[in-house]
Amino acid sequence: MSNIGSYEEQIKDFDWSISEKELGYKDGDVINIGWYCSDRICEMGKADKTAFIWEGFGGQKKQYTFNDIRLAGNTIGSYLRGLGIKDGDRVCLFMDRIPELYLGFLGVLKIGAIAQPLFSAFGDESLHVRLENAETRAIITQRKHVKKVRKIRDSLPHLEFIIIVDHDGKKPLQEKEIAFSLKDADPVEEFDIFPTKAESPSVLHYTSGTTGQPKGVKHVHYSLIGQYLTSKWVLDLQDDDIYWCTADPGWVTGTSYGIIAPWSLGVTQCVLDTGFSADAWYGFIAKHRVTVWYSAPTAIRSLMKAGEEAVLKHDLSSLRHLASVGEPLNAEAVIWSEKVFGLAFHDTYWQTETGAIMLTNFPGMNIKPGSMGKPFPGITGVILDPETHEPIQEPNKPGLIAFKPGWPSMMRTYWNNEETFQSKFVNGWYLSGDRATIDQDGYFWFVGRDDDVINTGGHLVSPFEVESALLEHEAVAESAVVAKPDDVNMEVVKAFVTLKPGFNQSAELELKIMNFIRKKLSPLAMPQEIEYMDNLPKTRSGKIMRRLLHAKEWGEDIGDTSTLEDDD
Ligand code: WT7
Repeated sequence: MSNIGSYEEQIKDFDWSISEKELGYKDGDVINIGWYCSDRICEMGKADKTAFIWEGFGGQKKQYTFNDIRLAGNTIGSYLRGLGIKDGDRVCLFMDRIPELYLGFLGVLKIGAIAQPLFSAFGDESLHVRLENAETRAIITQRKHVKKVRKIRDSLPHLEFIIIVDHDGKKPLQEKEIAFSLKDADPVEEFDIFPTKAESPSVLHYTSGTTGQPKGVKHVHYSLIGQYLTSKWVLDLQDDDIYWCTADPGWVTGTSYGIIAPWSLGVTQCVLDTGFSADAWYGFIAKHRVTVWYSAPTAIRSLMKAGEEAVLKHDLSSLRHLASVGEPLNAEAVIWSEKVFGLAFHDTYWQTETGAIMLTNFPGMNIKPGSMGKPFPGITGVILDPETHEPIQEPNKPGLIAFKPGWPSMMRTYWNNEETFQSKFVNGWYLSGDRATIDQDGYFWFVGRDDDVINTGGHLVSPFEVESALLEHEAVAESAVVAKPDDVNMEVVKAFVTLKPGFNQSAELELKIMNFIRKKLSPLAMPQEIEYMDNLPKTRSGKIMRRLLHAKEWGEDIGDTSTLEDDD
């Protein structure tokens, strides 16, 4: 029997107080995610249960009980507090998927500071805009990433501490740098956890839009109420599960469901800190007897490419429930997984902004391959007419996905950008920025994004950010960046550029520009192709017509360009 039981029964009189009750929370109480993920589980008698199984890049292994993660959170928290870091301060976690990232997250939350996880493959420019916007006070990082921080520290007046968790003493520490070793620190048994309340900020995740700089999505400790129940009902996490979420905590899936979900439920989770390989992934599942697996369509499509033979080499019989998020999960992938694993991937839809799963295929639900499923109980999801912003009643008619605001894990604002936050609401609806249809049975079907943001392998990339970075290259005069179709990643970044006088259109220059973006922004944002143009198509007012280039890439009818020309 799954945790949710019957969806139809659960939606009838649903109330989030179900979650509050299970967590022993009452309105006005102290609520601290760090405490809920470790101390509370220990108090429930699971102190010696394994919380965390970790495997590193070179095959290193570490294992932690709930008591170990409780102590580690205290120890890191008390170290940060000793530096003078206090509630509300932003502390960036800039690490590979090493234990300190997960344990540091708990430590930051335990002192009431705001955890700002950033993807460790980010280049200095991506890092800079996000630290500058958040006025981050401390960054916790590794030796291998500190160079990027050094490049930008002088232009970040709010950044006081660069904490290196694996300093080996070989090279001297530089300005603002300090060494902290979890292994050598005295474990802190007794710790005064900061009494955060429901609306105290917890996590700041940056997400990319079409225009402007990335936005800091502010979440609060009350988000736990949503993350707890969605992971219980959708991921169906149960006491004896071994759970694997393949997402990096630099992105919201990796925190909401890669830290908070399993640990607040007292469930064992494992983490593999390596790049993708079908063999390594299947081997990991077999070795740790993973039961619940939360992954992403690009990974699933890559596994499909590796073929059924790769599956057959491993004993994957422990698996019992599979779920996916981040980009459209095509019907073929669902059918394939049912065939080779005997289990269908259950698609889930949500966003950094929503903090938790919004639309989903529940365990036990009749899956329509290719559909995102139905709203989680307590979530009112509709399709709005793009013109009138009224809900569309007719089935199968595309429009904008919108939700009735007020679910627990919803973002509270964009950091320092209340205006953009407000612009997300129309007629009392939160606009997701995605388009979909709802069929006669109430299932949602993804149509596409309502903006120019590129979703490459489940990661959002802002064309604006890439275009701006391209202009910083000495050879580039103008740039336009769009998505290009791709078999595995669904979309990849493609750039069109015109060159400055004196530069030649060569393959060598293309590689140089690609590398320039990779270093500055990230490997995800790096264009997979750069096409040289003599002129970029522009509107009469001189605005580059990205949409025309996009249509060309996707073999779509460009239609009437005179309307495109006037279109902003
Ligand atoms: C965007 C949110 C929260 C998960 C990680 C991504 C796209 C997400 C699906 C899905 C089709 C999906 C949407 C959404 N997306 N899930 N099941 N089917 N598209 O968080 O980086 O904020 O991205 O990812 O476009 O708006 P994010």
